[in-house]
Amino acid sequence: MPVSVKDSVVLVTGANRGIGRAIVDEAFERGASKVYAAVRDMDSTNPLKEQYGDKLVALQLDLLDHNSIRAAAQAARDVTIVINNAGVLRTASPLSETAIEDMQYEMNVNVYGLIEMARAFAPVLASNGGGAFAQLNSVASLKSFADFATYSASKAASYSITQALRDKLAEQGTEVISVHPGPIQTDMAQDAGLGDIAEPPGLVAAAIFDAMENGDFHAWPDSMAKQFGQSYSGFAREVIEADVSESPN
Ligand SMILES: NC(=O)c1ccc[n+]([C@@H]2O[C@H](COP(=O)([O-])OP(=O)(O)OC[C@H]3O[C@@H](n4cnc5c(N)ncnc54)[C@H](OP(=O)(O)O)[C@@H]3O)[C@@H](O)[C@H]2O)c1
Repeated sequence: MPVSVKDSVVLVTGANRGIGRAIVDEAFERGASKVYAAVRDMDSTNPLKEQYGDKLVALQLDLLDHNSIRAAAQAARDVTIVINNAGVLRTASPLSETAIEDMQYEMNVNVYGLIEMARAFAPVLASNGGGAFAQLNSVASLKSFADFATYSASKAASYSITQALRDKLAEQGTEVISVHPGPIQTDMAQDAGLGDIAEPPGLVAAAIFDAMENGDFHAWPDSMAKQFGQSYSGFAREVIEADVSESPN
């Protein structure tokens, strides 16, 4: 079911910079009435508050602190669109000295953080008529990049959870969107040495809301992502998005 951004109340995690910041701009551009900027450091939303005034409400939320997620869900009772954008990347291959601790950190933020976000916000979205829940996954959800192997594994896991959320939240009329960017011009891509091939964050923001408004499950925002999406489309349609029974009967 397509979900319109106009007059919606949007919550974005990691809204203070990078892709999250672009999502806030795009939400207002498309007529959202209010945006909750859910961030670790409330002061980091000052530029957004200056720009958008009372329509921008800052909330403290750390994906590693599950109480803060539940408190944000209590505070944002009127939210109709939740975008779990915040995420972390450590550059570790499976052979790195720190591979296991890096992956534990990435799993804590990128996967367990997602599960807690879904658990906390599903009832709020249901009580507001369904709405939409979008998760920032990656092209690395589909293909492991050897120097970011632990990140890729965490994003494969978050994609798997997103698929389950699509089925579970359909029961309450919540549209779920899985977003799969390639390299995007943010601190994350810069720190990972991908700055040269990265594309603007606005592409991701636009692709999320386009997918929402078109009722699409997958969003492929940039050139690399579109290439992945094209190759993957048959499998996505016939397996991932199909109603394949888990039982042999
Ligand atoms: N950039 C890319 O090339 C790319 C490609 C594919 C997917 N993605 C995904 O897109 C999302 C946004 O990435 P980005 O490039 O915008 O990253 P970024 O520039 O590094 O920004 C990360 C954002 O996440 C927040 N964050 C980090 N740890 C957090 C935690 N424990 N709890 C709450 N917020 C936390 C940061 O807050 P602070 O300011 O407080 O640190 C910041 O707002 C991520 O999920 C990422 O994996 C990015």
